[in-house]
Amino acid sequence: MDSNELYTGHFGLTERPFTLVPDPSFLFWSKQHKRAYAVLEFGVLSRAPITLITGEIGSGKTTLVQKLLSQMDDSVRVGLLSNVQGDRGELLQWVMNALSIPFEPSESYVTLFQRFQESIVKEYAEGRRVVLIIDEAQNLSSEGLEEMRMLTNINANKDELIQLILVGQPELKGIVLSPGMRQLAQRVAASFHLEGMDEPTVRAYIKHRLKVAGGSGREITPLACAEVFTATKGIPRLVNQLCELSLLYAWSSNHKRVSVKSVRSVLEDGVFFASNVMDDEAGGERDVNERQDDLTRPLFLRAGRRVDTQSKKTG
Ligand SMILES: Nc1ncnc2c1ncn2[C@@H]1O[C@H](COP(=O)(O)OP(=O)(O)O)[C@@H](O)[C@H]1O
Ligand SMILES: [Mg+2]
Repeated sequence: MDSNELYTGHFGLTERPFTLVPDPSFLFWSKQHKRAYAVLEFGVLSRAPITLITGEIGSGKTTLVQKLLSQMDDSVRVGLLSNVQGDRGELLQWVMNALSIPFEPSESYVTLFQRFQESIVKEYAEGRRVVLIIDEAQNLSSEGLEEMRMLTNINANKDELIQLILVGQPELKGIVLSPGMRQLAQRVAASFHLEGMDEPTVRAYIKHRLKVAGGSGREITPLACAEVFTATKGIPRLVNQLCELSLLYAWSSNHKRVSVKSVRSVLEDGVFFASNVMDDEAGGERDVNERQDDLTRPLFLRAGRRVDTQSKKTG
């Protein structure tokens, strides 16, 4: 039995309330998350050529994308690209891969493009729309974004054949609004920027997650919630991390509830912020390794990570 199991039992919880695993049952519909989701749905249904969702790291963008994927039916062919960087040609391969369009990596760009076009025209003829979601789109170069825009240019009878959903960190908005990106910006039909949650929302969020995990929602006091809000600026991922550590601390001191004191102990000990810094560094290092690794990998596998929409689909 590890300490995680011990603390859940101690608080009368049946599972860990603040894991970072995307679990739809933990989804909390704050006003903002609802709005962002509505924009995503509207984008898809209204055949918006481009929908743009931005927000701080950990604000809930990918969570909403996963939710959207889980709601899509057979009338939509959807591809998800996560964290792709790449040159001309390579990006198209990633896109085709995400949409499960078969191709040979040795084929020329022209042939690939033809294949791609044929495939989406066929989808259109069969009454399906094609949606391509690009998560962490701020990592695409301007050229990459421009290439994506070109893909949305393919149309038939004035209908868009492919819709783009661009999701990324706040700088993505700046990239899209920059002078060179005007053509892209003009095609953005719907957009939303996710901010951190405000204090009452953080309180409700914490309560929601505690309840889903089998608790009463009172395991973390309102004052402690306020402290969590201040330290995290209401960013869900940080709220989760701080709450989990605070539960551990309160458990180790044999407290029945997480008080503001437990939260402060975590903050004073530096475990919370240290863990964030370490997360960032680990992320950076991974990128570097991936890049170094790039040269030894087949072209098709380079520069990015494909997230399989099928296996990532969550209820
Ligand atoms: N509305 C929400 N309801 C429940 N949990 C959320 C919500 N938004 C974010 N989270 C949690 O916060 C964490 C970070 O969310 P994520 O979607 O990965 O953020 P982003 O993609 O913006 O970096 C996830 O572990 C997720 O469980
Ligand atoms: Mg994300």
